Amino acid sequence: MTLRKYGIIGFPLSHSFSPKIHNQAFADLKISAHYEKIEIPPKQFNPKIETLKKESWSGFNVTVPYKTAIIPYLDKLDEAAKHIGAVNTIRVLDYGKWQGFNTDYKGFLKPIDAFKGALKTCLVLGAGGAARAVSIGIVSGLAAQELTIANRTLKKAEELTGRLLSNQTLKCYPCQIEAIPAGQFDLIVNTTSVGMGAREKQNILDVRPFAHSKTLVYDLIYNPSETQFLKTARQTGLKTLNGLPMLVYQAEEAFSIWTGKRFPDKLLSFFLNPLYHHPLS
Ligand code: ATR
Repeated sequence: MTLRKYGIIGFPLSHSFSPKIHNQAFADLKISAHYEKIEIPPKQFNPKIETLKKESWSGFNVTVPYKTAIIPYLDKLDEAAKHIGAVNTIRVLDYGKWQGFNTDYKGFLKPIDAFKGALKTCLVLGAGGAARAVSIGIVSGLAAQELTIANRTLKKAEELTGRLLSNQTLKCYPCQIEAIPAGQFDLIVNTTSVGMGAREKQNILDVRPFAHSKTLVYDLIYNPSETQFLKTARQTGLKTLNGLPMLVYQAEEAFSIWTGKRFPDKLLSFFLNPLYHHPLS
């Protein structure tokens, strides 16, 4: 049986957890496939993608900072990826063409499915690629009435709300992070990288003035498992969620796009268990 090759394209990838998720699922289902990191420094992006296109790969994940940059190399895009303007999953079709998908917005929605009817007013922090997927998730999957997009750079928040407004009746407001209008939101989501890596000690926003007792505070960051943003919220008594379930659910979706098979349930519970991600495990 030939070994099918999958990989994650991004930079840096040292902390990527995706190879563990997919290789374990391939092993459990006895699929002859291997998933590896393809770390590409920005200057080498174009030639490396050209090389990958000539090799025999079956699929890829794409992560920061290439989710938009990869689009010119794709032969087909699914509707969600087109709408979001970012791709995190590629399926290589039998005749070698690359088809792009975005599974991030589904991964974002799945962990909050039980709350969806209650999340009417939403605040998204950031206006980059991750914010786009989150905003499309909010627009398409929640019964939200208001969406405020707050970003360091106002212009990018305006561009994103403009994009969302094109065929929606939901009210969208752009603003700068320092100028979020007074009010309490049902859902507050951090999509920026503030709180990880070199900015681990920083907090993108003190949510307390913008929260009521039932506000759900969601950070897409999963490493560290609790950012300052989430810690303040938890210590105030708010419900909090980190980015780990989103990571696992987007992987589940990518896995079935590639293999046509369901990601094993047992493995899903295993990877969703925060104990597995504990530094001592
Ligand atoms: P991603 O695909 O992960 O969303 P991105 O497209 O580069 O990455 O977007 C990063 C987001 O984090 C942007 O909203 C960015 O704000 P700007 O548009 O003003 O650049 C935000 N961001 C990054 N560093 C930040 C910082 N130190 N303070 C506030 N926002 C920051």
